[in-house]
Amino acid sequence: MAKLYEAEASPEKRLFISLITRDISLIDAIIDLTDNSVNAAMKRSSNPFASTKDFERYLRATQRNPLAHIDVKISDRKISVTDNAGGIEFESARSDTFKFGHAADGADARDRLSVYGIGMKRAIFKIGNKVKIISDHEDGGFALDLDVAAWEKKPPPWHFDIAKRVAASRPKCGTEIEVTELYSEVKRRVADGIFIDALRDKLSRVYSFFLGRLITLSVNGKPISATHFDVGDRFAHDGFEAADVSVGITVGIARSVSDNYKAENAGWYVFCNGRTVIYADKTNLTGWTGGGGASLPIFQPKHRPFLGLVFFVSEDPEALPWSTTKGTLNEDSLVWQQAKRLMITLGKEVIGVLDKRYGDSGTEIDRSEMAELAGRPTNAFSTASSTKRSFKIERRTPPAETKISYKAKESDIQKVRKHLGKPAMTAPAVGRHTFEYFLENEIDA
Ligand SMILES: Nc1ncnc2c1ncn2[C@@H]1O[C@H](COP(=O)(O)OP(=O)(O)OP(=O)(O)O)[C@@H](O)[C@H]1O
Ligand SMILES: [Mg+2]
Repeated sequence: MAKLYEAEASPEKRLFISLITRDISLIDAIIDLTDNSVNAAMKRSSNPFASTKDFERYLRATQRNPLAHIDVKISDRKISVTDNAGGIEFESARSDTFKFGHAADGADARDRLSVYGIGMKRAIFKIGNKVKIISDHEDGGFALDLDVAAWEKKPPPWHFDIAKRVAASRPKCGTEIEVTELYSEVKRRVADGIFIDALRDKLSRVYSFFLGRLITLSVNGKPISATHFDVGDRFAHDGFEAADVSVGITVGIARSVSDNYKAENAGWYVFCNGRTVIYADKTNLTGWTGGGGASLPIFQPKHRPFLGLVFFVSEDPEALPWSTTKGTLNEDSLVWQQAKRLMITLGKEVIGVLDKRYGDSGTEIDRSEMAELAGRPTNAFSTASSTKRSFKIERRTPPAETKISYKAKESDIQKVRKHLGKPAMTAPAVGRHTFEYFLENEIDA
């Protein structure tokens, strides 16, 4: 056999950093850091978060007793994320935390939002050059001081220098990640006046299940509250289990607090292990294409009350159909394709009803009529593992009627008019009045 030589195939740090940071927005990078804090809080809960049923149960059982607080601070000098969710133990910091991707047996079986082993590293590389991490843990934590530019120049093998920290008491356990020497594009984004509000909005939507339940979160000291959305309790539901993933799909009519139907809130919402991945989608990603039988129509104003929710839950978060940035879906995933077919079938039930009621453009949607059609407001998450059911519309059929006509003496009719003090009352009105009097007093109808 011919002699084999080693051809250099090791990664260039500079290219590697550029590649992994290119396709993630600054907001999603910061949310990667908060995802890790939420994941740590989920691991502290006694609920295993392993099925749609567990999520539904958590909603019912927890009485506003969050297990961790996450504090995000943003300025044009520094971005930091601090939590008190338990911290990272020194040995895992050494062997797993800073690896780019988990080893086959490296991931913790209780991880729910930590999937690919890339998020934190990508986030800090995206934000700035100086990184400080302090993590306190019950069994001893670690500290890291990293200068990314200096690290880039070091030859392989790749490693970060970390120091050991002594064991801390449980209430003090948590992680602080601070990035300074922000890159110029990051500084500019942060200072553009809309960035912080956009981040707040996104956090409120992304963690609508967790906020106020498992975690509390603040940005620059201001608490973030969950985006609530309720669905009318006449929703349609179906679900299935596939390849370690349990899936629940609910479609109904939105019941917002104000009951104002805004197009921006309508559409499909997709959750992976309780974290919002897709929000109010009306594109062909979720089947709205108008392409005929195998899809939903193109979204029109009359569809504003439409609310569709897809819950994917798995103990193996890699089996879920999210992308590595968790901001979109892996459309090729088999479980997603299977879910999408069912979404279209269920979605058509609600769209069919809306289409029958309203014309094609400029539709005024009558709020009280829609509220009646929707049913009572129900927390959308509480429908995650409902039993299979269809979108029910109660048709109110008018009561059957029969005409009564009879002749009476004019003098008797006159007596009734006089008795009632209504001399101009017509003969049919006298007939109706006397009939109703009988119903009311003799039958109590
Ligand atoms: N705030 C935190 N609290 C506890 N553990 C943390 C925290 N941040 C990071 N970790 C640990 O570090 C690991 C690596 O985090 P990183 O975000 O890089 O990857 P990941 O979360 O495993 O996967 P993903 O690419 O999906 O984010 C996590 O799996 C988790 O064990
Ligand atoms: Mg992560």
